[in-house]
Order: sequence, then C-alpha cells, then structure tokens
Amino acid sequence: MPDHSRDVNKLCAVSIVPTLSDQYFLKGFKKVNNMKKSVFITGAVVNTGFGIAERFAKEGYTVFIGSRDQGRADKAAEKITEKYGVYSKGYRADPAMCEEELRIVFDEIKAEGYLLDCLVLNAANLGIKQEFLTVSVEEFSDVIYTNMIWNFIIARLAALHMMEKGKGSIVFVNSNTAYRCIPDRIAYSASKGGALSMMRAMAFDLGKYNIRVNAVLPGMIKTDRWENNYNDCRAALSNYTPLGDIATFEDIANAVYYFGSDESRNTTGAEMVVDGGNMIQLYPIIPDEK
Ligand SMILES: NC(=O)c1ccc[n+]([C@@H]2O[C@H](COP(=O)([O-])OP(=O)(O)OC[C@H]3O[C@@H](n4cnc5c(N)ncnc54)[C@H](OP(=O)(O)O)[C@@H]3O)[C@@H](O)[C@H]2O)c1
Repeated sequence: MPDHSRDVNKLCAVSIVPTLSDQYFLKGFKKVNNMKKSVFITGAVVNTGFGIAERFAKEGYTVFIGSRDQGRADKAAEKITEKYGVYSKGYRADPAMCEEELRIVFDEIKAEGYLLDCLVLNAANLGIKQEFLTVSVEEFSDVIYTNMIWNFIIARLAALHMMEKGKGSIVFVNSNTAYRCIPDRIAYSASKGGALSMMRAMAFDLGKYNIRVNAVLPGMIKTDRWENNYNDCRAALSNYTPLGDIATFEDIANAVYYFGSDESRNTTGAEMVVDGGNMIQLYPIIPDEK
C-alpha cells in the first residue's frame, strides 16, 4: 500500500524554534528591508545548490537555504552571510513535511518582511541504482513524490508570494536525463521528464500573474559522484563531451541566475541545457586508452 503519511491535506503540528541565523540577528546584524530581492533554494547546503546560493548572494539577494536538516541549513546560511554580507537563513524543507508544514516556512519568510522574487527547485531524489525489474513501487514512488509532487507543493506556496508581489520567477534544476537515459535510473528519468512538462504547464498558468517558470538542464556536474565515477558510467567522463568538459557548480548557477533574475524577463516555459554539448552527440568519441 502507498504511504499516506505525507497526505497533502493532513494538518501537522510543528514547532518553529529560533535558528542560528535568528541568533545572528539578535547579536545586532542589521536586517535588510523588504525591498531587498530574495530567493529560496531547496537542497542548497552543498554542491550545485550551494553554488546557486552563492551566485544570488553575490548579486545582493537575501538567500533562504532549504534542506532536510535544519542544522545544516543554518550552517550554510551562516557561511553565506559571512562570505557575502547578505542576510541568509536556513529552513527545514523536506519531502517528509506535509503541505501545511511547508506553508509555515513560507508564512515565516513573509512575516520577516519578504515576498520571494525567486524559487529554485534544486533538491532531488537521485534514485541511483534502481533497476527496472527490482525497484520497489515504494522506492519508485518516493522519487516521483520528491521530484514532482513536492516540487509542485513548494512552487505553489512560492507562487502565492509572487502573486502578492506582482512578479516572480521559478527555476527548476532539471536534467538532460529528461531526454536521454542512463541505466538503472527509471524513476529519476521519469520524474525529470514529468517535471519538465509540469514546468511548461506552470509557466502557462502563472504567466497571467507575471510569474515566469523555466528549467535548467544540467548534464554531468563536477560533484564527487562524477569525479569519482560512482555512477560507473565510463562514457560520461568530462573529456567525452564536445566541449571537452562537464559543468561546474558555477556554470549551472549562472544559468539559474539568468532565469531567476530580470535578465530573462520575457522568457518563460524555456529550457537551457548546460552539458558541454553532451546531448547533441549520437555517441561520445572516446579517446584510445594509452
Ligand atoms: N550532479 C549531476 O551530475 C547532475 C546532473 C544533472 C542534473 N542534476 C540535478 O541538479 C540538481 C543538483 O544536483 P547535485 O548533484 O548538486 O545534487 P545533490 O547535492 O546530490 O542533491 C541536492 C540536494 O538534494 C537533497 N536531497 C538528496 N536526496 C534527497 C531526497 N531523497 N529527497 C529530498 N532531497 C534530497 C540534498 O539536500 P539536503 O540533504 O540538504 O536535504 C542534496 O544536497 C538536482 O536536481 C539534480 O537532479 C545533477
């Protein structure tokens, strides 16, 4: 039986405790006024998500860091404030939270004086090593839930901020696996393909509120996973792309910032592939081993 514990209609009891960032305020850090632009990024403690947080911080945005772990989110937010001098705050944003719990996160941001300018849906359940014949329905559903349904819930809550503000931008960090498959990632590929369709439908429905919705499609990104080839995918090494390299966190963050900011103010429902040209190949040219 499917797990109904995350039923979006269920009301949950939550307690909001002061975070490290609150304590930072109490120590006298001057809070920016609500004219400051703000962004919420899911899964922003490490890797691409943190790179995206840094990119927006460099532009002076207030940065709200989402993570399944409140403590890690707080630490990442402190790092952003220390390095870039902008206000940053961590929030627990977890697929295990129901819609009402997530709503409290966005209500709290609003109570602090912010209506979000941008939402970046970066967190993902990677669904690695899920073989078609053996993956359980629960494992498959978990990936679809996180990468589609949870993103839908968060996007809708953020859209309410943006409607009130009169404009906004939602950016999906998707994947070129929405189009091209890699082995044993059935749920992940399906979820990324579904999220891409959802992105276009959202762009259509939210256009009238001046809310834009777009997607960045990374190929491989230089995370530990790819550097160490944990995916056991030899044909996906950096030098097998036409540009001879795969993306850094900054490459993805630049594309996300473009969609997230007014620089792309007339663009919605669009996709930007950032993959060193990987997707245009029929097959990679693999140099002879010496
Ligand atoms: N790395 C690549 O080569 C690659 C290629 C194409 C697309 N992408 C996409 O780019 C985005 C970032 O990729 P990345 O490699 O930098 O990601 P990552 O760090 O592996 O994952 C991003 C964050 O998602 C959260 N997360 C992980 N598993 C989760 C789960 N089961 N449920 C909910 N949240 C979970 C984690 O944050 P917390 O633990 O803090 O919650 C994690 O730090 C993802 O959307 C990914 O699909 C990556």
